[in-house]
Amino acid sequence: MLVFDSGVGGLSVLAEIRRKLPDAPVVYCADNGGFPYGTKTEAELSARVPALLGRLVERFDPELVVIACNTACTIALSQVRAVLNVPVVGTVPAVKPAAAISKSRVIGVLGTNATVRQAYVDNLVAEFARDCLVLRHGSAELVVLAERKLRGQPTSPEEYRAVLDGLLSQPGAERLDTIVLACTHFPLVKDELAAVAPRPFNWVDSGEGIARRVAHLCEGVEWEGEPSGLAVFTRADEDVHFLTSALHSYGLDRVVTL
Ligand code: DGL
Repeated sequence: MLVFDSGVGGLSVLAEIRRKLPDAPVVYCADNGGFPYGTKTEAELSARVPALLGRLVERFDPELVVIACNTACTIALSQVRAVLNVPVVGTVPAVKPAAAISKSRVIGVLGTNATVRQAYVDNLVAEFARDCLVLRHGSAELVVLAERKLRGQPTSPEEYRAVLDGLLSQPGAERLDTIVLACTHFPLVKDELAAVAPRPFNWVDSGEGIARRVAHLCEGVEWEGEPSGLAVFTRADEDVHFLTSALHSYGLDRVVTL
């Protein structure tokens, strides 16, 4: 299967998939040539993501594609599905499970700038969290912090605190009890966020739900000849080698450039 994101965020989803399907062959693609997605326009992402996934499917011929990126999915999931002839599992903000567990009925959605402004999120709120106050905060900084962490570079508690403040300083946030990590990069730094949080929160992301869906779609699939353990980058960046050990810990031991 092909697991796709703009960067390392999709590894948080891959970890959940591996828990359910430890032996499934995986090609992980990070579109570092297009990173970051969260500060791009809808038009840029609609032009880039379906075309790139088309090339990747042609090259690697996967049984299944997992778009492990909220930004790409809230903008371009239907366009991607229209051009690919394989099943596509998407990632959308986990508003539904968050609304199911929030007691205070005040929920935070932490995503990229592009994700939190999408009508897709308005629709999720209208459908599943109509009785909740839903506060949103878009953070490009937190994406970069996750990228730095996986490269083994230092990050500081103040940087995480500043991101959280963007959500918690909004009116009504004093009653907030649940935070949706609506970018796949963010579960990678959940411990760091929790460590600077002023009180305990429920942290909710989509990883486990996606893995369940993937496992269901993969029932009975014969993985014949699919490459595995491969990390594909769309641009030959010299700093990719800082990711070698992180990639290794997710079972990705070969790195290639598309
Ligand atoms: N990991 C991505 C997401 O889930 C986007 C990060 C970025 O490139 O800005 O939204």
